Amino acid sequence: MNIVILGAVFGDEGKGAIAHYLSTNYDWIVRYNGGANAGHTLYRDGVKYVHNLLPSFDWRSPRPKAYLASNMVIDLDKLYSEIVELSKINSTFPSRVYVDLDAFVVEEKHIEADKNKNKHIGSTNRGIGPAYEDKIGRRGKRVRDFDLTKLKELGVNFTTVLEQRLNFIGSDILFEGAQGVLLDINHGTYPYVSSSDSTLAGIYASGFGFIKIDKVYGIAKVYSTRVGEGPFPTELFGDEAEELRKIGKEYGATTGRPRRVGWLDLPALEYVIHKTGITDLVFTKFDIVQGQEIKICTNYQNKITSGQDLFNPGNLTYSNLKWNDCNIESIKEFIDLIERRLNTKISIISHGINKEDIKILK
Ligand code: IMP
Ligand code: MG
Repeated sequence: MNIVILGAVFGDEGKGAIAHYLSTNYDWIVRYNGGANAGHTLYRDGVKYVHNLLPSFDWRSPRPKAYLASNMVIDLDKLYSEIVELSKINSTFPSRVYVDLDAFVVEEKHIEADKNKNKHIGSTNRGIGPAYEDKIGRRGKRVRDFDLTKLKELGVNFTTVLEQRLNFIGSDILFEGAQGVLLDINHGTYPYVSSSDSTLAGIYASGFGFIKIDKVYGIAKVYSTRVGEGPFPTELFGDEAEELRKIGKEYGATTGRPRRVGWLDLPALEYVIHKTGITDLVFTKFDIVQGQEIKICTNYQNKITSGQDLFNPGNLTYSNLKWNDCNIESIKEFIDLIERRLNTKISIISHGINKEDIKILK
């Protein structure tokens, strides 16, 4: 089976933890967009890891291999340091990392340009926008144009999708999206977006058109967050925001910046589901708001058929909800409300950082 793990909102939905949990049932975990702007937080044996470039694969299982696909932009120095740092804990995993020779490379000049040009967007300053600019402007350089000796000495493999074609055809693949659909260059809240394809487009752009996708999981938190500038219709401010930020530990995994916080936004989520073909929803962080009354935005006054419509939603309608613990019976009202309103099933929930806190419902 081949599945996609997609950020259904503004990124930071908990994709990393879900991909990591599921990864032991797959042969390949493929990152297909963005670069070191991502911060995928995951826990192994109670220890916290943040992967910026590496896919969220669980190396404790012999099965999954990691693939960095060609629609990514890769900072090779950062990849080297990320692998060196992690290989202090497990020295064998680098030989299970495969990098596409055709991915474009983030260079120092891109990081400098990001700092100067993209402050108003709230960029992570990882050089992403400028690297994609050079790629599209036909000035870019690919992984194959660089000296890869250091990475090869660590055991990292360099290849192409077609070289691995038969391996991929005979395998189960988990495609791990980065950022979220509302940060997608085409379908997000432009210009307050990242510069890559968070939707399935990034999979096809990476050359996986011959792979049939069976399921698309859209990941969302039971509340919302956004890092950087741009529209956020359900945003909270003041003490209420501060409290949610604190209990949810909502600080950027890549930049440490405080995340903007707000309520779950179903009209925006419906837009994303329709736009990307999400078949299954995953909700995370039920534990953070247990015991407190929360709100869920069920409707906008205005119609939403484009990411641009988030700039002008009109009045918002909310429902109030509360659960006192994270048992399935206690959160049933939430599940019913979402499934009815969005006409999409919730297949997985999570309410904590441990493996046991992730539950497969359907
Ligand atoms: P860039 O991708 O660094 O150019 O940043 C563009 C916008 O996307 C900024 O608002 C960032 O905060 C946001 N962004 C980029 N990557 C992520 C991510 O992985 N999670 C959340 N926000 C992100
Ligand atoms: Mg993140």
